[in-house]
This record gives sequence, structure tokens and C-alpha cells, in this order.
Amino acid sequence: MSKICLITGSSGVIGSEAVKFFSDKFDKIIGIDNNMRAKFFGQDASTEWNTQRLVSSISNFEHHAVDIRNIDDLENIFKSRGSAVKLIIHAAAQPSHDWAAREPITDFTVNANGTLNMLEMARKYCPESTFIFTSTNKVYGDTPNYLPLVELDNRWELDKGHAYFTKGIDENMSIDQTKHSLFGASKVAADVLVQEYGKYFGMNTGVFRGGCLTGPNHSGTQLHGFLAYLMKCAVTGDKYTIFGYKGKQVRDNIHSWDLVNMFWHFHQNSRKGEVYNAGGGRHSNCSMLEAIALCEKITGKKMNYEYVETNRIGDHIWWISDVSKFKSHFPEWNWKYDINDILIQIFSTLSQRLKPKKFN
Ligand SMILES: NC(=O)c1ccc[n+]([C@@H]2O[C@H](COP(=O)([O-])OP(=O)(O)OC[C@H]3O[C@@H](n4cnc5c(N)ncnc54)[C@H](O)[C@@H]3O)[C@@H](O)[C@H]2O)c1
Repeated sequence: MSKICLITGSSGVIGSEAVKFFSDKFDKIIGIDNNMRAKFFGQDASTEWNTQRLVSSISNFEHHAVDIRNIDDLENIFKSRGSAVKLIIHAAAQPSHDWAAREPITDFTVNANGTLNMLEMARKYCPESTFIFTSTNKVYGDTPNYLPLVELDNRWELDKGHAYFTKGIDENMSIDQTKHSLFGASKVAADVLVQEYGKYFGMNTGVFRGGCLTGPNHSGTQLHGFLAYLMKCAVTGDKYTIFGYKGKQVRDNIHSWDLVNMFWHFHQNSRKGEVYNAGGGRHSNCSMLEAIALCEKITGKKMNYEYVETNRIGDHIWWISDVSKFKSHFPEWNWKYDINDILIQIFSTLSQRLKPKKFN
């Protein structure tokens, strides 16, 4: 029987990396993506270019422009493949916490109901498969903002005496009684469902709570895809807006390849209902100001940016993921790329896709 890997959100930054990564490890890759990113963020953020690239370059890739909210369409895909589906990577989502407040029902039905649809399809047709869900650090809400932070010249930093200082924030932080944003709430619902299908039904499910996930094929836009959008502005000369926290907010950044390589390790030795923080950790992180300086160094041009005092609601001031739980379960995994590598790769891809407009 041929072995199938099924990927939702297959034209997005994580899904498309997974399509490529797994194309030589499975007989067939089935992608599900209806380009809803263009509906969320406009044509600029369309992932259609990425669909075309995958269809033309990966011979065992089959694309379905299906909406994960439509269970009948999903059933048509799952029914005929059955237990041949060995690995499911569920990466389709409404991914922005700012956007979620505009249409909470759309956000919830895509993120929560869509995940439930996928879990049920897996339980019904391929219960032995590995089910991987791309969750988010927003499930912890704004709790990280109450950590003892100190202000340095270019970044906020955690107090050296704090337990999270050396490795970052681990999975024991509470996800309860905090301001999640509507997006965080819909992802919590999905995150807990995926855990439950592992704990209750005994399925091989893994939840990966991402920090900033990015890579050269990110269709960056103002509301989502921080590094890709920042570099896009650095290349085109468009104005970039920093929202609050003096531009010193810190994010950890993991390359999509390193994340998908985590999925591969998990699949080969899967567990039931496990949860991992997944990010660049201390190995790969930056503040907004540091990221701007890096972009300017890579492009050789000054960036065109402005600062507004109001921060995004619930935005993290300092987030660095502790990935040591994952490393202890899968000691052979390690990062291949850091923040510098990521930005250089984004720059190189964008330079081919975009034309510069103007620079300061
Ligand atoms: N990129 C990040 O920084 C980040 C951080 C934490 C978590 N995540 C999570 O990782 C996952 C992947 O994110 P990404 O950055 O690749 O996002 P992305 O927007 O690049 O990709 C998601 C893809 O899903 C598709 N999609 C959306 N709704 C759909 C629907 N109803 N039916 C079918 N397809 C649909 C979109 O068209 C898009 O191509 C998401 O679950 C996101 O919440 C991302």
C-alpha cells in the first residue's frame, strides 16, 4: 500500500515547507489549501504563487483547493485514501490575532471547528496515523508580559535570576485566566482538542506551540509574518510600522525547515497527546530594533519605518521558547538555521519576487 502524507495549509509557509520536506519520504503528498490567506489579508498575501510552484516542481504532490470547514469535501479526500494516510500535518489556519477580532466567527470556525473536522476524519479513516497540529504561543495569552523584564538598549530581557532566563518559557506556563485574543482562544480550543484525541482516543497526536515561524516562502503581510513582512518592506522601501514597547519586543524565530524536521522526528517515534513549545529559543531570537538593524545590514539600505505608541492588544513583550522538552524526547533534533540565516534566505527569495520601489 502506498504511504500518504496529508498536509493542510499546504501553500502557507509551514505547509509548503512540509510538502517539500516529505515529498521524498512518502509515495504521495496530498495538500489542502483554499488560499483563504488572500481573503484574510488581501491579494498581497495570496499563496497562489506557492501552490503553482509546488504543483509544477513536486511530481508526487496533489493539490485540493478545499475548505477545512467543509466536512463533506474532507470526507471525499479521506474516504478513498483510508489507512494509507500515515502522517497528517494540520497547518491551515487563520493565523493573525489582530484579524481574529474582525470576524470572530470566521476565525473560530476555521481554527477550532476546522481542527475538529480534521481530527474526526483521522479518527474515522486513519486512526493509526500521526496527527501534528501547529498551535501557537498565544495559547499562553499575555501571561508572559507579567514576567520580570528589564529594559536594555535594544531589547527587553528577562531578569537574570528568573527560572526561564537560560532556556526560555516552558510548557508548564498556565494557558488559563489570561488575555489570549480571539485568535489565542480559537487556537486554545484546537490545541486542547488535539491533546484530547491523544489522551482520550489514544491517537498519535502532537501539539507544537510555535513562536515566530518563518522561512523564505512566507507570504508576509502587515498582520502576519513579522520577519517576512519586515524584509519585504526593507526590499521594496514600503513604510514599516512598529507598534509599541519602544520597538524592543523580543521574539524567537524558527526556520520552517527546522520546525518540519521536528515533525519528522515526532512521526518516527510518536506519542499520544503531547505538547511542545517550538521556536528558535536562545539560539535564534531578536528584538524589533535588532531585526531592523539586521535587515539594513543585509540589504545595505536604510529602512523606512515609523513608531506608534499603541501596542497590539495582547502582544508579547518578550517571548523565547524553551524547547528542551522536545530535545529530551528527541535528542537527535537540533536547529540548523538561526535568525541571520533566516533573514538572508527571505531576502534572497524576495529579491527575486519583488521589485524595489524606493529607499531613503
Ligand atoms: N507563522 C507564525 O509565526 C506562526 C506562529 C505560531 C503558530 N503558527 C501556526 O502555524 C500554522 C501555519 O501557519 P503559517 O505561518 O504557515 O500560515 P500561512 O497563512 O502562511 O498558511 C496557512 C495556509 O492555510 C490556508 N487556509 C486558511 N484557512 C483555510 C481553510 N479554511 N481551508 C483550507 N486552507 C486554509 C491559507 O490559505 C494558507 O495558505 C497555523 O496554524 C498558525 O496558526 C504560525
